[in-house]
Amino acid sequence: MQLNKSLKNHNTFGIDVQAKFFSEVKHVADIDGLRQQAVFNQPKLILSGGSNILFTKDFDGLVIKNSIKGMGIIKETETDIFIKVNAGENWHDFVLVCVENNWGGVENLSLIPGQVGTSPMQNIGAYGVEIKDVFHSLEAYHIKKAQIDTFTHSQCEFGYRESVFKKALKGEYIITSVVFKLSKKPQVNVSYGAIQSVLEAQKITSPSIKDVSDAVISIRESKLPNPKEIGNAGSFFKNPVITKTHFETLQKEYKNIVSYPISDTQVKVPAGWLIDNAGWKGKTFGNYGVHKNQALVLVNYDDAKGKDIYNLAEEIQADIFGKYEIDLEMEVNVL
Ligand code: FAD
Ligand code: EPU
Repeated sequence: MQLNKSLKNHNTFGIDVQAKFFSEVKHVADIDGLRQQAVFNQPKLILSGGSNILFTKDFDGLVIKNSIKGMGIIKETETDIFIKVNAGENWHDFVLVCVENNWGGVENLSLIPGQVGTSPMQNIGAYGVEIKDVFHSLEAYHIKKAQIDTFTHSQCEFGYRESVFKKALKGEYIITSVVFKLSKKPQVNVSYGAIQSVLEAQKITSPSIKDVSDAVISIRESKLPNPKEIGNAGSFFKNPVITKTHFETLQKEYKNIVSYPISDTQVKVPAGWLIDNAGWKGKTFGNYGVHKNQALVLVNYDDAKGKDIYNLAEEIQADIFGKYEIDLEMEVNVL
């Protein structure tokens, strides 16, 4: 147990706040041990890679850092492999293990920061794939009952950057492991235009999952700031879904506005386009601002306060509503 611990190296925004109590768990039994202590009655925050959190103040309670490691194959058929991965494993390291073994399904999710246990939390997604496409089940520790429960795919209630763990069961569980179903006979998904362009430029006509993974890595490196160099938490807002009628009204004023079909009546609009078109891209306010290549990413250049970044996010929300009558929802967990 550590007291008044700086969390600067535990969040990719690099915000320097303190946790009153900080404890790292390496085994499920460590959670049981922690539970016997009085400190467990404090408000709790489960922390993994810290790549989807903005701290706006010190955490006046117990931070439980999930470092439960290990992975192994639990079942194999002619076509599929079921692999159980503990929550504390690094997500991208797991993807690389899959790519090396030619187990298909997660290659489009290469280079997403964070840990495996958090991947179902908000159904991570990129380049045409979401975790729900390869998810089999997970185990999670019920904080009050001190028992491990298993969740099937449907029990997780996956949605766009959503699951039951962010809604009805928020704060009730610590995810301890995830089982993925991967394909031993992979079929690549190159539906995302940017992947196709990279592969065409390399004259790759029948790509392997390694080719797809490499393409995704190169696209991500060209667009998104590396948190080791510039503090950020990826997309700060979700891409909003609006009615087609609303979109057609906007199109009259904004000829270049982009959209993706969602249903007969709804479309998704890239928040990056809205923020960029509203003139925020690359704007800097001292030591924080909006990234120059991706308007959806707010950045900490050097020792910014989380509260300042949060205020900027609120200013952007108000401006976007004023210009397009669209409510932007924050994707990052603000604490
Ligand atoms: P944390 O930030 O540590 O935690 C996130 C939330 O989950 C918190 O509320 C925390 O309390 C809770 N939590 C953490 N661990 C557990 C657990 N074991 N049990 C229960 N609750 C838990 N996301 C995408 O979906 N697609 C992308 O393409 C993408 N790109 C990104 C690019 C960059 C540069 C960055 C910095 C982030 C990006 N993200 C992306 C967001 C982020 O990587 C994901 O949300 C990731 O899954 C967060 O994992 P983490 O381990 O860092 O979670
Ligand atoms: N755009 C702009 N200006 C910008 C940024 C984007 O005009 O500054 C336009 C682009 O031209 C493009 C569209 O917006 O037409 C979409 O941009 P991009 O392909 O970069 O994707 P995104 O919608 O901004 C989403 C996810 C990312 C994920 C990528 C790739 C959300 C909130 N974000 O970003 O996830 O990596 O698609 O699939 O859904 C994350 O969740 O943290 C994250 C990075």
